[in-house]
Amino acid sequence: MKLIIVKDQTQGGKQAFEILQREIEAGAKTLGLATGSTPLELYREMRDSHIDFSALVSVNLDEYVGLSPDDEQSYARFMKEHLFEAKPFHKTYLPNGKADDLVQETERYEQIIADNPIDLQILGIGRNGHIGFNEPGTAFDSTTHVVNLSPSTIEANSRFFEKPEDVPTQAISMGIASIMKSKKIILMAYGSQKADAVAQMVKGPVTEALPASILQNHPDVTLILDEAAAGKL
Ligand code: GLP
Repeated sequence: MKLIIVKDQTQGGKQAFEILQREIEAGAKTLGLATGSTPLELYREMRDSHIDFSALVSVNLDEYVGLSPDDEQSYARFMKEHLFEAKPFHKTYLPNGKADDLVQETERYEQIIADNPIDLQILGIGRNGHIGFNEPGTAFDSTTHVVNLSPSTIEANSRFFEKPEDVPTQAISMGIASIMKSKKIILMAYGSQKADAVAQMVKGPVTEALPASILQNHPDVTLILDEAAAGKL
């Protein structure tokens, strides 16, 4: 794992953007994108850039079950607001959280990933070490699947909702194996609340109890951390 320590999230966004720009110049066609507060500065850099994304494809990590793309809290809406409205892509994919048949939807989504191999995957990390919505205990060979969100994830994500009861309890997420197929991965983490998960990801055993620890087995991972998130390394 390559480690870049930055002063703050703004600098982290700039570093991630530089790598992304280089990869696009080198021919990257498909970006794997994440939601949450972590990639916001990267998306700001992308919006403010002169890069034309209209020939690129994006594939997002996850979506809440039960929310339509227009729902204010949906990840589809998040991506539209923070990136796609300003920078249209050739094609943007997110799981359909309103699909009637969720299992069929996971299969459809996994096929999308197979048809659009991800050149560069952007990741954040949950406080419990989750990536995408792959909670502790998720099998390393998992593909896109329906997830029951853990109480700690529901609690952490409730800050985006009016009340905790409004947070969906399920999501559709790329699996660990889907994420590991990406050619290159950038994982960003900011703040002391991420320090334990980051330390276990980097120094701990590779274990399904800490999903992000699998990244130790990936050949091309760059971690962009602020000092607080790197505090326990
Ligand atoms: C969410 C998302 C993840 C994200 C994580 C951290 O549950 N599904 O993709 O990395 O939480 O969120 P944040 O960046 O807001 O700390």
